[in-house]
Amino acid sequence: MYAEEFIALKASEALKALYGAEIDPSTLQVPATRKEFEGDYTLLVFPLLKLTRKGPEQSCEQIGSYLVSNCPEISSFNTVKGFLNLSLSNTFWVENLQEASTKDFSAPLSSTGRRIMVEFSSPNTNKPLHLGHVRNNLLGASVSNLLKAAGNEVIKTTLVNDRGVHICKSMYAWQQRFNGATPESSGKKGDHLVGDCYVEFAKMEKEDPSVMEKVHEMLVKWEEGDPEVRKLWEMMNSWVFEGFEQTYKALGITFDKTYYEHDTYLLGKELVQRGLDMGVFVKDPDGSVWCDLTADGLDRKLLLRSDGTSVYITQDLGTAERRFSEYKLDSHIYVVGDEQNYHFQVLKLILKKLGFDWADQIYHLSYGMVELPEGKMKSREGTVVDADDLIEKMYQEARESSEESGKLEDMSPEEKDRLYSMIGLGALKYFILKVDPKKKMLFNPKESIDFNGNTGPFIQYTHARICSILRKAAEKGLKPEVSAEVSLSPKEIRLVKLLQSYPRKVKEAADALSPALVANYCYELSKEFNQYYHDTPILKESSAPLLCSRLALISAIAAVLRGAMNILGIELPDRM
Ligand code: ARG
Repeated sequence: MYAEEFIALKASEALKALYGAEIDPSTLQVPATRKEFEGDYTLLVFPLLKLTRKGPEQSCEQIGSYLVSNCPEISSFNTVKGFLNLSLSNTFWVENLQEASTKDFSAPLSSTGRRIMVEFSSPNTNKPLHLGHVRNNLLGASVSNLLKAAGNEVIKTTLVNDRGVHICKSMYAWQQRFNGATPESSGKKGDHLVGDCYVEFAKMEKEDPSVMEKVHEMLVKWEEGDPEVRKLWEMMNSWVFEGFEQTYKALGITFDKTYYEHDTYLLGKELVQRGLDMGVFVKDPDGSVWCDLTADGLDRKLLLRSDGTSVYITQDLGTAERRFSEYKLDSHIYVVGDEQNYHFQVLKLILKKLGFDWADQIYHLSYGMVELPEGKMKSREGTVVDADDLIEKMYQEARESSEESGKLEDMSPEEKDRLYSMIGLGALKYFILKVDPKKKMLFNPKESIDFNGNTGPFIQYTHARICSILRKAAEKGLKPEVSAEVSLSPKEIRLVKLLQSYPRKVKEAADALSPALVANYCYELSKEFNQYYHDTPILKESSAPLLCSRLALISAIAAVLRGAMNILGIELPDRM
């Protein structure tokens, strides 16, 4: 049982016995005792004075004495100005450790009965994925894991914006300037080839702005279902999908369901018509359709162009409708960068105007930009960090730093390859996920791979270190097992406290949609373990029951690290 809950329960019993008060334990406040005082947890007695009808000091004395006399797990108390500091007994912590050592930390918390859809990644199909998408994918995947761990049913989805002006630009440039090049003929990954077309189009437009008209003609033809345009569109999209697939695989990203804009934009158009019929949208003389949001303090929002083609938000109306009706969602989270805050504000508002009550269950998880030490990434200036290049670079960094350490001589080339990839990706994922999603971040690959400090490799290394201790112990026939007679040191109690707080941390992080809380918890736990191990050479202990209890402690730490890092999508090697 959580120590805080245990104390709250006992305190409510004391209040009943002493003052005849019926108090719901969950309303009692029991924070950890501040470092400068003696004790483990502190009962805040001030809010209870109405019940005790005594002064703060006297109330603390009475409750404290009652607890110590009637509850063997509470070993002592002291009071400081209405704060009742309580110490828990060694037996309590040993039992807690016993519980931790048999617990499955990878199992989800009890079910909330809620079904949540998480949309992330959602690329346009006109260029390859870049560092911004990497943050998006990592956040989306780990928020999904986190919500699952907290007991929700989660559906991971993505929206592929596979139609529209952007892809027509790449298509037009390909027709004009690429002489029929294919991924095979050019030796390029498909998404990169299409990205080159997009860059080329930007040049063409600079030379002659009228090419935009051609692109719009193409878009109209696409919506009319012109066979040639559709064929080109299908071919180029298929190149891009193949390319994305490889990048997702390398990052370990999967989806339960994929939605395509070409599939939902017509439903969006139907909703636009419905809005016109309901009188919540207006048609301008030129034929374009708008939603007037000025009364809501926003602008007029374009929903259909005058040529009848659909815009970005049109499909989002249709996609949302389809998702809520297909899945009966309790909540829908969109992981999208903060440059689209306005878009999602408008989307929700328009869905409400169309009469969809579920629009209130839409939540935009808006994350900050990723910047490089050199500054902002700008596609036109070629300073975009490509996702594939980045993953490869992280692998190389991991290889270099591992080779420097020279500890892997006996590993096969395949084992080494697996390890470098785990470390490289672990570094990348951790570096990005340890930052609060809302904040913008600076990405520095060199710093991320550091085996010390708040990095993925440091936590991976800590885990590998524990595994190595457990292996050595096993060779001597020693197994993790808590024995009831051991007496735990203050550092050991600190570790047990951290372990038992893990499920709460998961809940807190899920409520905040912040994998960063899980990441930083892993760092705290790893740091505490390393300090403990530094002072306590576990394998040198002469008492076998104590040694085996310590093995149980560190084995539980390793299990928690695996569970927590799994939420972040980071693998932990057994050795490195
Ligand atoms: N494809 C869009 C972009 O690259 C992001 C889509 C976000 N999701 C959505 N449902 N609108 O900017």
